[in-house]
Amino acid sequence: MFVAEESTLAGVFGLAIAPQQHPRAMYSYSFPVALFVLLCSMLAVSPAGAVEVRSPDTRIVVTVDVDDGGAPRYRVDYRGENVIRDSKLGLHFASQHGFDSGFEIVEVLENAVDQRWEQPWGQRRLVTDRHNELLVRFESTGKPARRFALRVRVFDDGLGFRYEVPRQRGYSAVDIVDELTEFHVPSEATAFWIPGRRFNRYEYIYRTTPLEDIAMAHTPMTLRLPDGVHLSFHEAALVDYAAYVLDQRRPNVFETNLTPWSDGVRVKTRTPFVSPWRTIQVSPDAVGLLNSDLVLNLNEPNALGDVSWVEPMKYVGIWWGMHIRTYTWSSGPLHGATTAETKKYIDFAARHGFGGVLVEGWNIGWDGDWFFNGDLFSFTETYPDFDIVEVTDYARDNGVTLIGHHETSGNITNYEKQMDDALDLYESLGVRAIKTGYVADAGDIKWVDRRGVAHYEWHDGQFMVDHYLKSVRESAKRQITVNPHEPIKDTGLRRTYPNWLTREGVRGQEFNAWGDPPNPPEHLTILPFTRMLSGPADYTPGIFNLTFQGPESKQRVQTTLAKQLAAYVVLYSPLQMAADLPENYEARPDAFQFIVDVPVDWEQSIALDGEVGDFVVWARQRRGGDDWYVGAVTDEEERQVGISLDFLDPDRDYTATIYRDGDEADWQSNPYDLVIEQRTVTAADTMSLRLATSGGAAIQLVPAD
Ligand code: NOJ
Ligand code: CA
Repeated sequence: MFVAEESTLAGVFGLAIAPQQHPRAMYSYSFPVALFVLLCSMLAVSPAGAVEVRSPDTRIVVTVDVDDGGAPRYRVDYRGENVIRDSKLGLHFASQHGFDSGFEIVEVLENAVDQRWEQPWGQRRLVTDRHNELLVRFESTGKPARRFALRVRVFDDGLGFRYEVPRQRGYSAVDIVDELTEFHVPSEATAFWIPGRRFNRYEYIYRTTPLEDIAMAHTPMTLRLPDGVHLSFHEAALVDYAAYVLDQRRPNVFETNLTPWSDGVRVKTRTPFVSPWRTIQVSPDAVGLLNSDLVLNLNEPNALGDVSWVEPMKYVGIWWGMHIRTYTWSSGPLHGATTAETKKYIDFAARHGFGGVLVEGWNIGWDGDWFFNGDLFSFTETYPDFDIVEVTDYARDNGVTLIGHHETSGNITNYEKQMDDALDLYESLGVRAIKTGYVADAGDIKWVDRRGVAHYEWHDGQFMVDHYLKSVRESAKRQITVNPHEPIKDTGLRRTYPNWLTREGVRGQEFNAWGDPPNPPEHLTILPFTRMLSGPADYTPGIFNLTFQGPESKQRVQTTLAKQLAAYVVLYSPLQMAADLPENYEARPDAFQFIVDVPVDWEQSIALDGEVGDFVVWARQRRGGDDWYVGAVTDEEERQVGISLDFLDPDRDYTATIYRDGDEADWQSNPYDLVIEQRTVTAADTMSLRLATSGGAAIQLVPAD
């Protein structure tokens, strides 16, 4: 079945998807529960014991039951091996009895879905959603009466479950103080993770450690189990709730630690409500994690209706110059955002087919220490040397959009007061995209209440989850796309709000300008298996002048030039920057041609090979086109990769333009050694390429006819 996305939101506690006929045999419940559940789904009477739901390919089995004390729990088996041990479920509230014990399963409803839906843009046009579902209803056996449900969906590539809490006596307004959900990993594992609840939000170098070294970790967190099975924990559809970090409270037991409000409450809500989906990707190998649409499938369809105005694009901008200190955001002799400079960037963008020009530092408020001056930003007043009307007229005449910039320094009250006017201004000027920014230490997001009292929140608490979505919705009303930096992590909401094109939430290229240390050679080989599992990232690749402070400086980009090109294929983003200064591209028109040619929107994407933190190879086909692009990157190890081209149309010849590391290339001593060559290839060929230390390869494959 094919489903075009439309604006329907599932009702709470109703089936989110149309029930379909399915063979009962798809479900295997342990006897005698099987009979019971079948009856339950028809007669809604109480089963006892455990209920089970399997993935369509039957390899993943999720079991839900209650323990002797009536505490709800679940477990997960994969190919007959236990991968999540019995793990707690439940919620604690500030003023009501918790959903923690004294429960029984009173009803189980089942459903199966097999459909394809179409994305307006994405890594692939058509997404397959094939899963089996259970809705397990729990009720307290004693007083006070309490009830909630767990909805579980099991796909071939993982599972998701969420709490659905109906309206009930005594629970109209609830403050959640703890979510009890656990992930109990049964064995040793190698973990790939960044720390949670630390000042730099999601901007950390990934660590590779034994499980026991983790205290708190952000999601997605990825594990390799001893037998090579990979798991990745995350969440989907984070709406009006707090994000969670994985909190290792006992050895191997990770609890969902919800980010608190400044007053200590985790989530302020009312019944009925649903939680975000808690997701576990399950794959026999590393690369299987990449070829998964689990998180998107667990989000609601497009809520915006016609989104033909949403434009994926490449962009350039007045940006890297500030990070390497040749420009300033603030006013003065080095001010970057001037009318004249912006026009030069517009000319460059128009000449090379870029859709947008980002301009940072155009508005009043950057003088002084902008990090701590969030109260002073105006989002409508320009510096005198930036004529916003002249610039946007010029952009329009050249077929380019200005990408507006709103840096808030984490002062939400100041921003929200001006949000309508600021977005109206952009709309009136034809600005179709904005980048927002929330530079503030985690925990230092400021808002001021009606009495003038300031409160300080986390970037990933409920307050900010709501704020980011408000910014996306308000922008959508004006047909503007959004790219937040210092964002909330991606949980697939781009499906519901397709104007939420991309975001930062990653230790991006800017760290190479000033970070101590810069991003290490391993970085781009670990991001695909961790951060990128959540969604697109505005990493801002494409630095050509890798040694911008001279070859001796430790402040540099720790890759070869070829690897910068490969990043356009490896790191998915529908909004992709060519981050370097125009003069550095003009100095290397041969290499720049790949950035000009590479698309940002895809018909399909296939991860071909890779190991977490070692290397990865991606192939992607242009949306609505016949040309393919391959990107391969390696860590600090030089390596040979074999790329089978069997994804190509077997009946055609292709011209391959290969941008690869030269034989002498080495990221430290010879990063610019780049070979560009052409060959005719077919689907029967396998290319063998040597990637230098921290090197890569980028390949364009165009049908020869
Ligand atoms: C941090 C963002 O990641 C960066 O792209 C931006 O230039 C600065 N904040 C200033 O807004
Ligand atoms: Ca490595």
